[in-house]
Amino acid sequence: MSSLNPETTPPIDFPQQWKRRHLLDLESLSAEEITILLDTAQKFKSLTNNCKTKVPLLTGKTCANLFFENSTRTRNSFSLAAKRLGADTVEFSSSGSSVAKGETFVDTAKTIEAMGVDWVVTRHSTPGTPHLLSRELGCSVLNAGDGPHDHPTQGLLDMLTIRQHRGSIEGLTVALVGDIAHSRTARSNIWGLSKLGAHVIICGPPTLVSPRWTELGFEVAHHLDDILPRCDVLNLLRIQFERQKARPFPSVHEYAALYAMNGERMKKAKEDILIMAPGPINRGVEITPEVADGPHSVILEQVNNGIAVRMAALWLLAGAQPSN
Ligand code: CP
Repeated sequence: MSSLNPETTPPIDFPQQWKRRHLLDLESLSAEEITILLDTAQKFKSLTNNCKTKVPLLTGKTCANLFFENSTRTRNSFSLAAKRLGADTVEFSSSGSSVAKGETFVDTAKTIEAMGVDWVVTRHSTPGTPHLLSRELGCSVLNAGDGPHDHPTQGLLDMLTIRQHRGSIEGLTVALVGDIAHSRTARSNIWGLSKLGAHVIICGPPTLVSPRWTELGFEVAHHLDDILPRCDVLNLLRIQFERQKARPFPSVHEYAALYAMNGERMKKAKEDILIMAPGPINRGVEITPEVADGPHSVILEQVNNGIAVRMAALWLLAGAQPSN
């Protein structure tokens, strides 16, 4: 791993408008704050040769990953982001921890914080747990996914990927397709994209799309084929069987017939459509291998952008004035 020399590294100016100490959701961020995060992530991406090189701006600080749910992308990229910035990391998993002995979520977080950490990154199945920690802890808290509620860094990395390909989010038609009801990625994208001026279409089976979205003024569709020719971007969401209490459609086969992005549907899409998925993908359910691995897919670019976005979030929160 090469490292940039702090003496010769061009400084990144801290945006004085940035005041937040926590990153809890995208719903409460302004368009200006989202743009600062995306601009900062783009700078880190350029400065670090696509997040391969270190910029030791936060040496001596420590980032704790508190994950009470499984993760591949988010956990590892938060860890890499902290290390690229020169910080240390603490990796906590609920399995094998003292949670099994009855320790509460807050006591566990306070225990890790007492080891001298500057950021707690938390993933939990209960919505609102990062917000709870932001009131209980003295350090910065970042939401890495709270149940079906929000996943702000996922929304940001999705927007960064779109911006890299299209220059701007404004005026684009972006469809979120699939299990909207259980998807924190959907919610982060809906708030973030609409704040930056995209036309957001929420598409899925009626059993997985709340009528509240129509009441809130969003376009809702129940057939992918009806909206596909208008879309600049498709973000294909996994069916989250683990969060469902009742089966929302007769079978996976029937779901795929209506909503899976496949080679036949690609013929009806715009020539320059971007195919995205937050991952993990279920090949053959929401996306077929020929599309997931095809020329329109930016799924692995999303993964790489996750490091840049998380570097930006850690750096901005570390520099923010303690006003919230
Ligand atoms: N997209 C996402 O959150 O992936 P992981 O569950 O692997 O972190």
